[in-house]
Amino acid sequence: MPQSPSLPKYLQDDDISQECSDLLPSLQCEQGWLGASLHLYQGFWVGPRHLKGVLACQRHFRAQDTDILLVTTPKSGTTWLKAILFTLLNRTKYSGSGSQLQHPLLSQNPHDLVPFLELNLYIEQDVPDLASLPPPRLFATHLAYQSLPQSVRDSKCKLVYLCRNPKDTCVSLWHFTNKLRPKDRGENSLQEALDRFCRGVSLFGPYWDHVLGYHKVSSETPEKALFLKYEDMKEDPRASLKRLAGFLECPFSEDELRDGTVDDILRLCSFDSLSGLEVNMSGKLASGEENKAFFRRGEVGDWVNYLSVDMAERIDRVVEEKLHGSGLRL
Ligand code: A3P
Repeated sequence: MPQSPSLPKYLQDDDISQECSDLLPSLQCEQGWLGASLHLYQGFWVGPRHLKGVLACQRHFRAQDTDILLVTTPKSGTTWLKAILFTLLNRTKYSGSGSQLQHPLLSQNPHDLVPFLELNLYIEQDVPDLASLPPPRLFATHLAYQSLPQSVRDSKCKLVYLCRNPKDTCVSLWHFTNKLRPKDRGENSLQEALDRFCRGVSLFGPYWDHVLGYHKVSSETPEKALFLKYEDMKEDPRASLKRLAGFLECPFSEDELRDGTVDDILRLCSFDSLSGLEVNMSGKLASGEENKAFFRRGEVGDWVNYLSVDMAERIDRVVEEKLHGSGLRL
């Protein structure tokens, strides 16, 4: 059915593929955080527009051994880590006294520099031409481990996984989706958001299944997947960045450690630096989200300003129960 042209692109679902339309009626459906439907596909909740991207990406994406995939639960700091990864991998190109090039992060949002497979590349085109991109190719995804294209699991490509405390993730998602909801749909109450989160109904959730899937892979094959937490990155960003560089086999040289390269990267990618750039204060992504929606407070423990004791205990109870026996604490 044709939709109102005023609906932002990220909510439009009238050009989904035939395969997707055929599949949707068989999937469990719930109302999602943006007021549109969410569908349970392979155990995870996605919107109809995302499903199109997920199916195309699962079918057509061919991972290369040199690929790097950033995987996150939504609102766990994806924007930050996209910026860091891009800067880390391109550090010789854009930094140093010899470089005449202006750093792309100064004029582009991190989501434009590191596209999502299923949310951008495979929605915009069924089979985007990615084979000609120079290695290492850097992509992002919110897909759960079991839903990754087979070639990602079979190849030697590396996964960098980022998650965040569930209470901060839930509060951040609540703020973000309220900003993205069309005005005539009103806002979700925090109680509604919390109910959904605790039932596992969040974008690419259940949150705990997503996290547990990658925690297991990283424990069993640490050379394949690096498991990072937003809180650890905030607490010791230098150590996290050095660990990341080591995992990606591009460690900092002695010279770089001496000449402040680590701090330069962290400064450029910091919340204050990125959120203060013109492009991030006034620009929009091709999919319609305002860039500024990805920058709110960027702090650890902000949930305490929103969740009552009862609400916090409810999330803690659910997550503790689900994580029980995994050795993972969030
Ligand atoms: P808050 O809503 O708690 O402020 P994602 O990028 O996965 O969508 O996550 C968004 C969250 O990361 C938001 O959290 C946002 O403010 C925070 N964030 C964005 N850029 C950041 C940065 N450079 N450093 C730290 N946090 C950042």
